[in-house]
Amino acid sequence: MQHFFQFRLAGFLFIALLFSSRNMAQSTQMSAQAPDNKAKIDELIKSMTLDEKIGQLSLFTSDWDKTGPSLNSNYKKLIRKGEVGAIFNAYTVDYVRDLQRIAVEDSRLKIPLIFGYDVIHGHRTIFPIPLGQACSWDLAAIEHAERIAAIEATAEGINWTFAPMVDIARDPRWGRVAEGAGEDTWLGCKIAAARVKGFQGGDLAADNTLIACVKHFAAYGAAQSGRDYNTVDMSQVSLYEWYLPPYKAAVDAGVGSVMTSFNEIAGVPSTCNKWLLTDLLRNDWKFNGFVVTDYTSINELMSHGVAGSIKEAAKISLNAGVDMDMQGSTYLNSLDSLLKEKQVSMARIDEAVKVVLEAKMKLGLFDDPYRYCNALRQEKEIMTTEALAAARKMVSESCVLLKNSKQTLPIPAGVKTIAVIGPLGDSKKDMLGNWSAAGNWEKCVTLYEGVRSRAGNNVEVLSENGCNVNDADRSGFEAAVKLAAKSDFIILALGENGWMSGEASSRTSIDLPGIQNELAEAIIKTGKPVAVVLFNGRPLAITRLNAMAPAILETWYGGTQAGNGIADVLFGDVNPSGKITMTFPRNEGQIPVFYNAKNTGRPYRASDPDAKYVSRYLDCSNDPLFPFGFGLSYTSFSYSGLAASVNGSQIQIAVKVANTGNIDGEEIVQLYVQDKVGSITRPVKELKGFQKVLLKKGETKSLSFTLTTDDLAFYHPDLKKFWEPGEFVIYVGTNSSETLTQSIQVN
Ligand code: BGC
Repeated sequence: MQHFFQFRLAGFLFIALLFSSRNMAQSTQMSAQAPDNKAKIDELIKSMTLDEKIGQLSLFTSDWDKTGPSLNSNYKKLIRKGEVGAIFNAYTVDYVRDLQRIAVEDSRLKIPLIFGYDVIHGHRTIFPIPLGQACSWDLAAIEHAERIAAIEATAEGINWTFAPMVDIARDPRWGRVAEGAGEDTWLGCKIAAARVKGFQGGDLAADNTLIACVKHFAAYGAAQSGRDYNTVDMSQVSLYEWYLPPYKAAVDAGVGSVMTSFNEIAGVPSTCNKWLLTDLLRNDWKFNGFVVTDYTSINELMSHGVAGSIKEAAKISLNAGVDMDMQGSTYLNSLDSLLKEKQVSMARIDEAVKVVLEAKMKLGLFDDPYRYCNALRQEKEIMTTEALAAARKMVSESCVLLKNSKQTLPIPAGVKTIAVIGPLGDSKKDMLGNWSAAGNWEKCVTLYEGVRSRAGNNVEVLSENGCNVNDADRSGFEAAVKLAAKSDFIILALGENGWMSGEASSRTSIDLPGIQNELAEAIIKTGKPVAVVLFNGRPLAITRLNAMAPAILETWYGGTQAGNGIADVLFGDVNPSGKITMTFPRNEGQIPVFYNAKNTGRPYRASDPDAKYVSRYLDCSNDPLFPFGFGLSYTSFSYSGLAASVNGSQIQIAVKVANTGNIDGEEIVQLYVQDKVGSITRPVKELKGFQKVLLKKGETKSLSFTLTTDDLAFYHPDLKKFWEPGEFVIYVGTNSSETLTQSIQVN
């Protein structure tokens, strides 16, 4: 309240008159659409000079110095002149307040700034990378993680996050698979919606919710060869069927902004793609927020070769439907002359300004520009006990047990000495993973620390690196082997460095980097019980490791609570239940390898393994190392009694799942459908549902799923979506390969 009055007293004239009504604070997300607010925005736009309008369409990053963000003085001048609408990479209450003060006190129209940031998997409390979180299949927990991220980010001045990234990705060479939900469209849609809801909450004007930005629109995950920023080219049917739905799900969940992608699709870069940004997004999907570019992606239209000058690039982007230019200054430098030359219209500029101002109104910034600058919240609502507990739980939920022969895990009671060996065993810097917002690696719990604190005083826990992640220095092997030889149990921490996935981090070889396989061999040879703990931001081709290691636990990058959450699983306090949402290939030559592929006219059949003229490799099986949906538990589950029946437009599916082991456990029961005969070819199976169920030891549960014929619909070459009657195969099981099946007729 105090800040509100400071703000008004400080000369908040025109805007105060237009927007002062306190009831805006209670406004809903749609408040900007209300007739009186709409009129206020129209009036404000009428009072703006062209330069002020262009300013609202310009977004700049703050710089960084040793202690945090800092803004170059030129940007401060621009804010004063009203020629910047939003700033990103700027946070902390004092810093944001200073910049906001320039905007709302020194600029002519006193329009508040939006503050954006890449809050991708937590703000200060860092959660597991999004690919890891997706492996929990726990939509409520994912939504809750984003709620916590939003609470923390808004407590430090942020009101806009560049997330969720929902790019479907089938190529693990692409480093940005770490940021998304994996390869499946159906699951990707559910996760996209959950994340938007978590960030935006029920009321954007609340001081602890922020605007989400779904990215990268569109199909950025289909970069050829898995090389970042590379060309995307695919059929319209594939685009509609597999790649577009998660963005649409975010739009349907009310996402407030959309970021264009760096790539082209069929020759048209997204940033100047009128069909994509206007016809589809605005007109068909009824998106009513604002569209921002990715970093300098308007400028990059020259390298793409679709614009001969920056000015032309700005023109085609604005006309295509881009509202805000991230960091490129192209609107700032060109819209003026483009307007004079009638190459862009004032109506289009006004339209873009309007959606940006509406976003500011939805956030409640006109009512109180310092709404997100609450020092008390910054002090009290960051890294709370509750946030750390949620992060720890998410770490354990996102772990996927890939192998566990002879019940190597959990670590048996009675173990007296544990060795944590490997380059990632005690590496705080690698725990956050990429895009870790304001996360501080020094506050991360490493695997070694987590194990040591769980093991207690009666167990000796020692660690050795053995080798580095990615070089050929074997000088640490001897000490590591010596430690292994005198220990009762060995945890071998292997994988990629945190920076090896994420943006601009494509790799052609995705086996363990460096000499880590050799280290594993030397340690496993000691004959001691060994469990490998993997840290990585993408599926790895770990065929060699899988052949020798008795147990493998995939843990991704767990963030702040990594070591504690992993220790919960290693010691059996939590029974692992995660399932991979991206296929793990046997080797890079199989890529792309994903579960919902097509059959081809000459499918390979396991019953005829030596057939020559079928779709197969001579030197490798078609099957992946670990299929989509795969993940083990410390207990075992058995499936029985699959019964599917059709009742009008409904398909009822019943199945029994039993916990046949000795401990309680959660199982992610997966439902897939195959359309046997279509007018165009259909995938061998598609995920259509799942249930995450807790089964006590010895317990059996009867589960049921209901599908409707709408769930059977698919895109046709004319881009109409409808289902075709005929035979369908229902698959229910523990992963995409091991299922019960039943064929049904749906007419
Ligand atoms: C990335 C975006 C990110 C933006 C702002 C770009 O390089 O592609 O995902 O939101 O930078 O940091």
